[in-house]
Amino acid sequence: MAGAFPIPLFLAPMAEFTSPPMRVLCEACGAARTHTEMVNAEGVCRGAEKTLFLLETFGEEQNPWAHLYGADPTRLAEAARRVEATGRFKGIDLNAGCPVPRITGQGAGAALLTDLPRLGRILDAIVSAIRLPVTLKTRLGPHPAKPVWREVLSIARSSGVTAVTFHARYTSQGHAGAVHLGALGEIVAAAEGLPIHGNGSVTDRPSAEAMAATGVHGIQIARAALDNPGVFMFRRVDPCALAERHLALELRYRALAERFSRLSAEEAAVLTFRKHLFRYFKGMPGANAMRGNLMRLRTLADLHAAIATFRGHMV
Ligand SMILES: Cc1cc2nc3c(=O)[nH]c(=O)nc-3n(C[C@H](O)[C@H](O)[C@H](O)COP(=O)(O)O)c2cc1C
Repeated sequence: MAGAFPIPLFLAPMAEFTSPPMRVLCEACGAARTHTEMVNAEGVCRGAEKTLFLLETFGEEQNPWAHLYGADPTRLAEAARRVEATGRFKGIDLNAGCPVPRITGQGAGAALLTDLPRLGRILDAIVSAIRLPVTLKTRLGPHPAKPVWREVLSIARSSGVTAVTFHARYTSQGHAGAVHLGALGEIVAAAEGLPIHGNGSVTDRPSAEAMAATGVHGIQIARAALDNPGVFMFRRVDPCALAERHLALELRYRALAERFSRLSAEEAAVLTFRKHLFRYFKGMPGANAMRGNLMRLRTLADLHAAIATFRGHMV
């Protein structure tokens, strides 16, 4: 059981994945906190329907946090106010770690690690704009020759954020290469009581234990939860039941987009769900063949039939 693990495990934000269906499934498996995918503060301020759709939640969610990105302190503060006004979220998390050029090119995400005064102004603006707790998700620094976590800690402490998550890699590493657990331990020691959450390549109990040994107060898990939301309990869940439940939740979520989408809920759910389907059956006989045929799965009936073909293979 996840409860047996000494520190809480959280679902990390993932663009195009951590929508309400995935968050509900991960909470059911023990994730103690979840995040939306990164949401553009500008879009929130403009009231863009597609952006606001990313801020929908399901009533049964227990601890969803909105994860925002942007570069302008005033606009981020305004976006945070609007997010708070929805009453849906337990807190707001700022992205200061995304290495994707489309985001850094706007001065947002990991670009904030190369403009620390701006990071400070943004956090100050958000914290003073809302009552909800504010957290930060970031990295060790732009590259190994330029660690900035000490500066980030000091900015975070003076702004009043309630926790900082460190993806224990540098921006230059993307999502690959060594996770610097030693640095994470140094960060915890230097944090003077500010809760630190760790992130990076936790996939099972041994890797979670290795990260917990650094002294972090919580752990965020991203990619491992895509294949198996049961990672929060350190066990595999029945992929057929999981896939059917996910599909039902996806239909419910996509129905909320019908008012502005050119796709019906069913069409949108089928398109979205295909990217989850093959992950759930990875490694099982027939999974590769199904992956090759994903584009041919065009209706709900096709998806149910594809899931059913795996029932016989259950271990
Ligand atoms: C598909 C995908 C989308 C991601 N989107 C975000 C995002 O929106 N915001 C963010 O802070 N990190 C994002 N990340 C990074 C993850 O939250 C996490 O920091 C990274 O994957 C390392 O954790 P892991 O080894 O458990 O996957 C994304 C990662 C992936 C694989």
